[in-house]
Amino acid sequence: MFGPPGSGKGTYASRLSEELTIPHISTGELVREEIKNQTETGREIESYSKSGKLVPDEVIGKLLESRISQTDCARGFILDGFPRTVAQAEVLERISKPDVVVNLDVPDDVIIERLSTRQTCGTCGAIYNERFLKPKAAWICDRCCGQLRKRDDDQPSVINERLKIYGIQTRPLLDYYHKKGIVRNLVNKETSVPPEKIVKEILRILKAEQSIM
Ligand code: AP5
Ligand code: MG
Repeated sequence: MFGPPGSGKGTYASRLSEELTIPHISTGELVREEIKNQTETGREIESYSKSGKLVPDEVIGKLLESRISQTDCARGFILDGFPRTVAQAEVLERISKPDVVVNLDVPDDVIIERLSTRQTCGTCGAIYNERFLKPKAAWICDRCCGQLRKRDDDQPSVINERLKIYGIQTRPLLDYYHKKGIVRNLVNKETSVPPEKIVKEILRILKAEQSIM
């Protein structure tokens, strides 16, 4: 799942993971886990994540390799937020070549609106939105009854920095994958669309790829 911050990578990947019964791997979640557990890596990368900068390629590459080596990934997996640089894409080519890059094309004004109203579960990581995808009870996770909260990097100045970094360091990767012929665009210009509708569209894209399903 490829796309700018707030384009819905996590929202759709978590639902696709249930549909396809393969794991959803969000490198952002891996980073937040390390920070939450205050591991050595977590302490090293905390300032990058909080300021919206990319974590160094070597560190994120190690976190990803370690996650992919777990047995639940043997049948495949959905990557969300990796790769974000050409160097990371080259690491991925060596570990496991991606079949399809689903590019979520969402305009900046929609992103800013969605991120400033996002809520996430501190326990299971489920994603909500206080305007568009509300939990049943305010600030309580529907799935695990955990406490919902705002992400540290969802403040306006950090959102702007993340969008800037996406444009400079990550968007150019699309050319890399266009050359491989595996990019499938999904344009979504509206602020709110039922996620199920978009997930259906992604499944249609995947079904068209004989090699995958
Ligand atoms: P990460 O956690 O990946 O953040 P991100 O890329 O900025 O993306 P987000 O998680 O903010 O957005 P999303 O696309 O998942 O959207 P969501 O589904 O939540 O990374 C965080 C940090 O970790 C990075 O800044 C970096 O420091 C580090 N990092 C991670 N990977 C790295 C890497 N590879 N290299 C280096 N550093 C790395 O949706 C957003 C909101 O919109 C939600 O409120 C949701 O409910 C709502 N929404 C979604 N879809 C819809 C819809 N259809 N209609 C209405 N609302 C919707
Ligand atoms: Mg996410």
